[in-house]
Amino acid sequence: MAQTVRGMRDIFGPEIAAWHRAEEVFRTISQAFGYEEFRTPMLEHTELFQRGIGQETDIVGKEMYTFVDRSGDSLSLRPEMTAPIVRAAIEHSLVRHTPVTRLWYNAALFRHERPQKGRYRQFHQYGAECLGSPWPEADAEVILLAYDVIKAIGLTQFRLEINTLGSSESRAVYRAALVDYLNAHRAEMSGDAQRRIDTNPLRVLDSKVEQDKAVIANAPRLRDHLDEASTAHFNAVLALLDAAGVPYTINPVMVRGLDYYCHTVFEFVTDALGTQNAIGGGGRYDPLFSMLGGGDTPAVGFSLGIERLLLLSEVEAGGWGEAARPDLYIVTMGDTARVPAGLIAMRLRRVGRTVVTDVLRRSVKSQMKDANRVRAQWVAVIGDEELQKGTVSLKHMDSGDQIEVPHTEIETALASRE
Ligand code: HAM
Repeated sequence: MAQTVRGMRDIFGPEIAAWHRAEEVFRTISQAFGYEEFRTPMLEHTELFQRGIGQETDIVGKEMYTFVDRSGDSLSLRPEMTAPIVRAAIEHSLVRHTPVTRLWYNAALFRHERPQKGRYRQFHQYGAECLGSPWPEADAEVILLAYDVIKAIGLTQFRLEINTLGSSESRAVYRAALVDYLNAHRAEMSGDAQRRIDTNPLRVLDSKVEQDKAVIANAPRLRDHLDEASTAHFNAVLALLDAAGVPYTINPVMVRGLDYYCHTVFEFVTDALGTQNAIGGGGRYDPLFSMLGGGDTPAVGFSLGIERLLLLSEVEAGGWGEAARPDLYIVTMGDTARVPAGLIAMRLRRVGRTVVTDVLRRSVKSQMKDANRVRAQWVAVIGDEELQKGTVSLKHMDSGDQIEVPHTEIETALASRE
């Protein structure tokens, strides 16, 4: 039997209504913050991600879907959206034309990870990127946007964790101190951590392995290596969050898994989804534009995993929520009613009504059953008698009330119960 590719899933049925509601939230709240939607291709040159995310990261080193196309170019399915957005901003000179460029996206992404609940090989992110500002107001703005979106989806069981990596310079000083310390304790650490000391030492800090944790507990702290400007930047971000009433906890060992970050990094985490506890994350990535050959442009942003947002809302609400109900189901009695019923349906659809008709030539009884199944708000019955009079008999399904109205007054009748 034909099957989906492992780690990839179909989205349908009651879950779709939840996607539509979330997508409406993404659009309206992004717009309210002055962000414009941006769409990029699914495929990019592999080099974009190697340069942007970092060759030594899990995403690029282990998880990308990469292939050589028929022209001999190495292409990759995008594993994230920040590098493509920055590529596009450079390519279209966006920041030159608008000093602050605010963009949002809702995109399918691909990572060859080990699939489990909340972790897929094709997944989706809603995210936003604020390009062009070095100031803490931009960091706070994107965090507030993410926070408002998560709240508007109806979630409560999450918290915001935040940290600073400091400027690229203070991070480099810290990295050197950390490598010295870790090398001195190399023998006490797991094989994975030992390998990371050489490739991506900051990632050793969020190792979940017990023997590593003991070493990490006494490691030099990033906090003690921050320069004054970095501390001031971080404090200003926190003050803005305080002023906006957004609760957070400082997580001094959070470093995030991508190479482009500096200064503020943050994650929205939950305890309600088992091991897949991050529903989103982001941070400032001032180095990325120049890593991709685009000059010096500071930027900050975040992405939320849509599957995880919706899984959490399903857990919190105890289900996917209601599917949309059609306004009207037209039941026809006999052959002659079908064409006029179709015309009435078309007229009402063109003024924005959701109208369902029977296309299986079913009996009245099974059409009524179908109207119940789709939970139509009203049912109209049209037979020979109604046709002669130019009327329909309308039943309001929740109350059971019945009325007979001329064809031209169906819309008025539907509107009377809203
Ligand atoms: P990330 O932390 O790699 O950051 O991903 C953000 C979110 O995407 C995660 O917190 C998670 O909710 C979701 N996610 C990641 N992988 C999967 C997966 N395999 N299955 C389901 N959900 C997943 C980024 O991607 C950065 N581009 C965020 C950013 C934007 N930084 C600055 N701007």
